[in-house]
Amino acid sequence: MTTTHLGSKLWVVLNSNRLVSELYGKKGSVTNGRPPYPMVSDIISEGRRSVLLPTEGWSERRRVMHQLLSGSAMANYQEYQVEESNNLLSSYLESPQHWYTHHRVYSNSVIHRIAFGEKPNPNDDIRAVTQAQFDFLMNAPPYNLWDCFPELARLPKFLQPWRGKFAAMGQATNDAYSSYWAPIQRSIEQGKSPQSFARDLVFNEAKFTGSEKDKMFLAMQLVEAGSDTTRLALNIFVLTSVTNTKHFLRARTEIDRVCGNKGERLPGFDDEKDLPYINAFVKEMLRWRRIFDWTPEHMLTEDLEFEGYFFPKGTNFVINHASIANDPAAYEDPQSFRPERWLDGRETEIMGGSWQFGGGRRREPFDDKDIRHFTLEEPFPIAVTSRGEAWAKLIGA
Ligand code: HEM
Repeated sequence: MTTTHLGSKLWVVLNSNRLVSELYGKKGSVTNGRPPYPMVSDIISEGRRSVLLPTEGWSERRRVMHQLLSGSAMANYQEYQVEESNNLLSSYLESPQHWYTHHRVYSNSVIHRIAFGEKPNPNDDIRAVTQAQFDFLMNAPPYNLWDCFPELARLPKFLQPWRGKFAAMGQATNDAYSSYWAPIQRSIEQGKSPQSFARDLVFNEAKFTGSEKDKMFLAMQLVEAGSDTTRLALNIFVLTSVTNTKHFLRARTEIDRVCGNKGERLPGFDDEKDLPYINAFVKEMLRWRRIFDWTPEHMLTEDLEFEGYFFPKGTNFVINHASIANDPAAYEDPQSFRPERWLDGRETEIMGGSWQFGGGRRREPFDDKDIRHFTLEEPFPIAVTSRGEAWAKLIGA
């Protein structure tokens, strides 16, 4: 553990799998909070982006996401992904030089269909929505100095000249999201839209007590959270494949073995269990070249004594992904790409061994009850999920 201060906030950086497992997993009931973010959460996001909310406010949204992103809806979502994967493959063939753009189109199409039931319309002007997402990301923790000193937000408003900039971003976010959301909502209400997260939300399948605007933010947040992550995962997959051709060819051989080597058919969801090396490849990829070196901090909601240390309520814990992934005690020769290290019979538990999806109760997938915790004696003392399989399919991993 490394203790530091970021502005007026106390930070404890967790540098090993064991510490994350202990503090996020076993002490999850008190380490699940979020610190205040007066600018990026309260003002820019109007307190409606669940990912930044403290437990209160977050937990109901979390339940709703879980309810609407699992169960019978999953079959539709998998179908969307199969179709979009086929489109991606055909785009690779048509213009391989544009692979980078194809990844963006694929990722956006999959998550847009899950969220709204329809593919994104390429003629839509999405500049304002993109700008809103950019404003959020560029002011998310820890990039925004004012949120490192949350007490400043209690000063009289005239002593906070910086607020105006954030209020303008909040207004622009609201305007951009509202104009994007309005036709989607109309089409759902008129019964013209296929099943989707937004349709279930509008028809209140999950009995969400939030306002119409809360629903809009929940649906828009899903697209925000799901598209760039998937795009980056695909880009990293290409990087990994071209720099580790031996492993890539072994992965390819495994697919040929299962699906035939004359292009008989494409792999499907049902094949996943027969493709351990592919799963191991993805897990190693997420360790070797991560999407996130930083995932949002978890705030302690009560004083905590832990292994002789005293942490006051309000301490922020953060996972040091780079340090953990390069820890030679956990991963032999950590700099080299070795999918084999994951061939342990648990390959399909795609989240097992990775904190890339967060930690503790806030980590994905949304189904907390499916998360089981390894004991510390096991090789990767972290939370994994039996539904990791389904979730990995959803994100294209
Ligand atoms: C490789 C792909 C992905 C990675 C690495 C990833 C990672 C993360 C992380 C680290 C968090 C924060 C967890 C925490 O608070 O501790 C998060 C939250 C979230 N992600 Fe993802 N994600 C991925 C894909 C997706 C996809 C495809 C979706 C949509 C279907 C999605 C939707 C969300 C949502 C809605 C949240 C906020 C959850 C909450 O407030 O509880 N993510 N993700």
